[in-house]
Amino acid sequence: MPMPPTIKRLSVVLPTYNERENISPLINKLLQLTQTSDVEIIVVDDDSQDGTAEIVKKISQENCRIRLIRRVGRSGLASAIKEGLLAATGDIAAVMDSDGQHEPIALINALALQQEANLDLVAGSRFLEGAEIHGLSKRRTGGSTLANNFARMSLSKNYRQLTDYMSGCFVIKLKSCLNIIYKVDVNGFKFLYEILSVSRGKLKVGEIPLSFQPRSYGNSKLDLAILWDFLISVLHTLTLRLLPRRAISFALVGSGGVLVQLLSTEVLMIIFQLAFQKALPISVIIAATSNYLINNALTFRSQRLVGKKLAKGLLKFLLVASLPVIANVGLATTFYNLISPNPVIAQLAGIIVVFVWNYAASSRFVWNTP
Ligand code: GDD
Ligand code: MN
Repeated sequence: MPMPPTIKRLSVVLPTYNERENISPLINKLLQLTQTSDVEIIVVDDDSQDGTAEIVKKISQENCRIRLIRRVGRSGLASAIKEGLLAATGDIAAVMDSDGQHEPIALINALALQQEANLDLVAGSRFLEGAEIHGLSKRRTGGSTLANNFARMSLSKNYRQLTDYMSGCFVIKLKSCLNIIYKVDVNGFKFLYEILSVSRGKLKVGEIPLSFQPRSYGNSKLDLAILWDFLISVLHTLTLRLLPRRAISFALVGSGGVLVQLLSTEVLMIIFQLAFQKALPISVIIAATSNYLINNALTFRSQRLVGKKLAKGLLKFLLVASLPVIANVGLATTFYNLISPNPVIAQLAGIIVVFVWNYAASSRFVWNTP
């Protein structure tokens, strides 16, 4: 099936991270499918360790329809897609995974629907009627269904009819969508979800069924941190994208820290028989340390500190936090002594004061972000 003749130039964006075995078979299939059309293929590689970029470089030397964007370090899937789309020179762009899970024919089907109905965006869905899912574990399918339900609930009602907000395969009209693409937050995996969130129901969207294949070679790069990013994306959308994503993540980790602090105070008071005034400073430090480690792994993952810098960072974090920690201890103790000898309420009073200062100061001084 040929590409719709009404499309003047198509850009295909292929994000890669360690896809040595998968990338050239995919490029070949795409070239065969689009032989007579004006097509460019843009591979955005995140410094793969397995030589993916070298392979693509070689192909691009032989065929000028292939371009390689090679990036420093791993900045993530959504950011790779964004960069590829911004560099695209076609009037329409297509995005798909490079590991063989999406079939190139899906792009042709999506382009046909896009042209026929004059849509801004058409996504390939694993859950639309007629779709097939091969080789995806029950757990992963269940997880995607759950995530899709969260996505549907958080997005504009104009997008309610969609069935797969998590898809990594879609075509998009570049002219009308470029300013939206610019605004997409680049953290995490879910570019499609983000573009729907940023556009707040204004895009004309459609779906085609996918025949979702098992990965040809290698392993999925999805991990816990990426799931965390999606949770933050949903909360970000639900809070009307007003707060910085990092602040949401920091607050969520902070609430976990509240539990850690409350729990360790209880343990210290009950099991170790410490007085509240003695138990409190210890549990504040325990909670601050666990917050630091979790924030380092999730909230500030892109600036993650390791080795010696991790230890140095902890000292800085404790220093930055010590001002409000002293305020926290002081406030909680005063509250406990003067207002109510209830350890839980006393601590909550201290904790709230601490959050704002900690977020602002540690972003700046510990992880060097503005
Ligand atoms: N440049 C770049 N940088 N590419 C990346 C990165 C990254 O940090 N992480 C992953 N990729 C590339 C992979 O090389 C692959 O081509 C594609 O993005 C998808 O990554 P996988 O690791 O195979 O993810 P998955 O199969 O678990 O999930 C994909 O498919 C799902 C179903 O369509 C993703 O596209 C999900 O968003 C999607 O829900
Ligand atoms: Mn995959």
